[in-house]
Amino acid sequence: MTAARRNSNQNPKRQRGPRTNQNPKRKRGPSSAPVVDTHASALGSDRSTGRAEARGSSWDPNIIVFACNWCSYAGADTAGVSRIQHQPHFRMIRVMCSGRIQPGFVLRAFEKGADGVLVSGCHLGDCHYVFGNERAIEQFEKTKSVIKLLGLEEGRLRLEWISAAEGARFAEVINEFTDQVRALGPSPLRPSPEPRTTIVASSG
Ligand code: FES
Repeated sequence: MTAARRNSNQNPKRQRGPRTNQNPKRKRGPSSAPVVDTHASALGSDRSTGRAEARGSSWDPNIIVFACNWCSYAGADTAGVSRIQHQPHFRMIRVMCSGRIQPGFVLRAFEKGADGVLVSGCHLGDCHYVFGNERAIEQFEKTKSVIKLLGLEEGRLRLEWISAAEGARFAEVINEFTDQVRALGPSPLRPSPEPRTTIVASSG
């Protein structure tokens, strides 16, 4: 077979270049999508906004929701699956039971920049650990007195019982609480913005 004939047998569609082993669809490595650290980034985000911002303007609060795995977290899921619209300015931290939420968790959230904290669990009598939510009430009362001592408004903290079936209730609570915290303005415990460093170039 001549060289010309051999070339004519080649299917132009099947021409191969150097093999790179790279399938653009299966690109691996660090993804360009942001990885959200539910805890740290939620609490520490938007540090540059301060208390000086105009209340009720375009400011959106940072809200942390501690949700029990068995009811409230599933309630949030139900809201999502049912496509119920609600305000998005919150991050959820899932715990196995609302009784797990100690004052230290809530204080840490405020310390890291939360403007409001919602604690939610199963309705009384429905706790998967029997008395967990009764313990949550005790812890909540302690937390309330500590935040008062710190000079935070009581309206920045809320306790709610939301079951897995109550998607609409979840959305309603989130909307109400977000508006309430927005009206209070940024938390006075928000970390102050990091000081800017100015680099002065020296000549000669
Ligand atoms: S398991 Fe939901 S509050 Fe205890």
